[in-house]
Amino acid sequence: ASDISGDLDHVLYTEREIHERLDELAAQIAVDYEGKDVLLVGVLKGAIMVMADLMRALPTSVPMDWMAVSSYGSGTKSSGVVRILKDLDTDIHDRHVLIVEDIIDSGLTLNWIRSNLLSRGPASLEICTLLRKPDAAKVTIECKYVGFDIPNEFVVGYGLDYDERYRNLRDIGTLAPHVYS
Ligand code: PRP
Ligand code: MN
Ligand code: MG
Repeated sequence: ASDISGDLDHVLYTEREIHERLDELAAQIAVDYEGKDVLLVGVLKGAIMVMADLMRALPTSVPMDWMAVSSYGSGTKSSGVVRILKDLDTDIHDRHVLIVEDIIDSGLTLNWIRSNLLSRGPASLEICTLLRKPDAAKVTIECKYVGFDIPNEFVVGYGLDYDERYRNLRDIGTLAPHVYS
């Protein structure tokens, strides 16, 4: 495999820009949850980098938990039907839950997760996503913490994959055309 930076077409956000924005979101989250015990819930696998950096930017000790989900059928996410591959270890009844995601694309994944978690009776449920694609939304999701709204382009890096690769890229960017061919 060749050097991953050569596979990028253009960089949307550098590692530094991502960290600066996550620091801002963390500051806001710290204020909003002051005096409350918040549980961070990450969605595997894309959210791993966001979780790692967001939680380290928080001033208090916070617990985290993870869910892994998958669409039924062909692996396209368009159906919006999701099954749980790994459920939370934590009982979230009466807990303040903050879902941590890398990207909201169609919104179908988070829409399903959100209603699934709401049915468990959390004290509160909010969403933090690093990226959001307003032009790709098939459902509207109320998202309290958004890093960046981006155009409807396929992006990789910082946890986001193309066919399970490029998650380890430090920046976020679009792939060069030769990668797809
Ligand atoms: C990606 C991304 C979000 C979801 C967004 O996950 O990490 O979780 O798709 O898409 P949507 O808004 O259209 O539902 P993916 O299913 O690729 O799994 P991954 O996190 O393991 O890459
Ligand atoms: Mn994901
Ligand atoms: Mg993916």
